[in-house]
Amino acid sequence: MSAIFDRRSVRSFLPKAVEQYKLERILRAGFQAPSAHNRQPWEFIVISDAADLAAIAEMSPYAEMLQQAAAAIAPCVNLGQGNGIRQDTWWVQDLSAATENMLLQIVDEGLGAVWLGWYPDMVRVKAFSEHFGLPSHVLPFSVIALGYPANPPQKEDRYEPAKVHYGRY
Ligand SMILES: Cc1cc2nc3c(=O)[nH]c(=O)nc-3n(C[C@H](O)[C@H](O)[C@H](O)COP(=O)(O)O)c2cc1C
Repeated sequence: MSAIFDRRSVRSFLPKAVEQYKLERILRAGFQAPSAHNRQPWEFIVISDAADLAAIAEMSPYAEMLQQAAAAIAPCVNLGQGNGIRQDTWWVQDLSAATENMLLQIVDEGLGAVWLGWYPDMVRVKAFSEHFGLPSHVLPFSVIALGYPANPPQKEDRYEPAKVHYGRY
């Protein structure tokens, strides 16, 4: 699957909007992710307003590229409410799988992106939740900055046979 090997973080974007049909295919890829007990605990916030993107950029010291990005998608977890509220943290893996699925679809669409870590930095989680009006049982997990890449990313072969253990460590 070439998207896996072509994918690199892209932090520099052309001033060009991302088509709605591409955004929808990227979101569909997120929804297709595996999840523990097939709970599919995700919700997605799609942000393309420049002032909102600039506001998110201010919430993390590592999110400056959002000033240039055409859009951002924030995969969020819905922890449920009342007796149904989740105590376990399997959802972190569910949301990671959804985030990676979207990064790969983004490559397939001829776009570029970078995964920005949000949860478990609770300062970032709080700032994002307040700005976008998230209820307390919904937490932003990551922010994906995306757009048309200003430069084609360089492929990198990271295979390290010494880190592979067949049968026993
Ligand atoms: C959990 C996680 C959090 C990350 N947070 C940031 C971030 O805040 N800002 C950023 O520029 N890149 C962030 N990255 C991207 C990594 O820096 C990048 O994936 C890594 O350097 C490997 O490069 P590659 O994505 O080009 O393969 C994050 C990646 C992951 C998986």
